[in-house]
Amino acid sequence: MSDLPEPVTNPQIKYTQIFINNEWHNSVSGKTFPTFNPATEEKLADVQEGDKADVDKAVAAARAAFKIGSPWRTMDASQRGRLMHKLADLIERDRVYLASLEVLDNGKPFAEAYKGDLGATVDTLRYYAGWSDKVCGKTIPVDGPMFTYTRHEPVGVCGQIIPWNYPVMMVAWKIGPALACGNTVVLKPAEQTPLSALYVAALVVEAGFPPGVINIVPGYGPTAGAAISEHMDVDKVAFTGSTEVGRIIQQAAGKSNLKRVSLELGGKSPLIVFADSDLDVAVETAHNGLFGNMGQCCCAGSRTFVQESIYDEFVKKSVERASGRTIGHGFDLNAEHGPQVDKEQFDKILGLIHSGKEEGAQLGCGGDRHGDKGYFVKPTVFYDVQDHMRIAKEEIFGPVQTIFKFKSIEEAIDRANNTTYGLAAGVFTKDIDKALTIANSVLAGSVWVNTYDPGLLQAPFGGFKMSGNGRELGEYALHEYTEVKTVTIKLPKKC
Ligand code: NAI
Ligand code: MG
Repeated sequence: MSDLPEPVTNPQIKYTQIFINNEWHNSVSGKTFPTFNPATEEKLADVQEGDKADVDKAVAAARAAFKIGSPWRTMDASQRGRLMHKLADLIERDRVYLASLEVLDNGKPFAEAYKGDLGATVDTLRYYAGWSDKVCGKTIPVDGPMFTYTRHEPVGVCGQIIPWNYPVMMVAWKIGPALACGNTVVLKPAEQTPLSALYVAALVVEAGFPPGVINIVPGYGPTAGAAISEHMDVDKVAFTGSTEVGRIIQQAAGKSNLKRVSLELGGKSPLIVFADSDLDVAVETAHNGLFGNMGQCCCAGSRTFVQESIYDEFVKKSVERASGRTIGHGFDLNAEHGPQVDKEQFDKILGLIHSGKEEGAQLGCGGDRHGDKGYFVKPTVFYDVQDHMRIAKEEIFGPVQTIFKFKSIEEAIDRANNTTYGLAAGVFTKDIDKALTIANSVLAGSVWVNTYDPGLLQAPFGGFKMSGNGRELGEYALHEYTEVKTVTIKLPKKC
């Protein structure tokens, strides 16, 4: 931890208003909503509560900024890239402050916020800044005396609705590809964690983006979020969050203007550990792949399948590791494990832990709250979990590892695929044949071999089945933010 800078333990909260057209606004309704520190349950700030009227204003600003002939539309693509680099530089300049804000608003340990979230935020913006003048079409050898080419044009006004588990990193994942392709954005942060996105808004002005290119409307899902997904003048909506809300958003798009929809939803990702694995590495990787960010990760390795000959040893070591995980406030630099984001998540997780006990899973450690203040849940390990149990089927989104025993590779594949989700999977083995058989057979958007969730922003990420549609990150995300236009010019003769 020695390479970490000191956090700002009492950061001043400067921005709590709605950001439209590079200006700060109060909500049209006059309403505000509170945001809390989940470690102490204390209120941090009242934030202006955006609703339909505010979304309408933000969409109008984003539309005007997208107009043909506007500064953003006429700007060289390389200049767009420079603005994005500038924004990344400013975020890096204020990295300690932003990481500290994430600790307060989300609860995560400072080391995780500083190294993980903020590192990925800066890197993602830089990666997409580089793409901005490399998004291009093709010339196509069509029949007849015709010259045909494609242009990859921006989709238009993009609504982006993000969750609370990686608040500022999600901003970068969303605005990065959208801006690189020349779109304009109306982004709604999660109601639990609006502060870091609003701080980034201030940096957007400092970086020099034209007004209206990026607009940020804090507020609740069924009001501000729904206003974005139902809006007739929003061309695309990108969402990360629950499968339940993903379904609502897809329906809203269908009932309004058929806006393009990309969804990054939940998961119940299997991690399959074969007997020939390096046991200690597999235990540690499975542990981190589940307990990182207090289990609040869409691709958490939430079903650990272990081959029977190493099962007992694996369970013993996993329980030891989870029991030793240090719990504390995010500003305690020794803490590996902070609180869950809010009471709703805390209650949901404790309810699922209760169901696991009731349904007969074996509890190795944890199983209840930690302390009596803040939304801390003890790192929990269940073993001898059966596929029909709720903890085997439902997304827990908390620090609860569930360990299953398997015998053969065929059984592991069948059981791994026995889920409505398909976000990610992992396999531990030294046998290339087993690794590739799993990689080719598991229905998941990402498969990791002898590692888990290495966080590679150059590679695509997204779900099969009910884990969503579309891909984020890498070159693939650019397809979500471009329309392909085919232009054909008649020539006097073929030549
Ligand atoms: P949620 O899906 O309700 O919230 C995510 C975002 O969607 C927030 O910005 C929220 O305001 C917005 N939203 C909510 N209702 C909406 C609506 N009707 N229209 C438009 N936007 C709406 O997720 P929540 O309630 O915070 O967590 C519930 C569960 O979802 C978690 O326990 C977890 O299982 C899953 N989840 C998955 C995430 C992921 O990374 N894939 C992130 C957060 C939650
Ligand atoms: Mg919800």
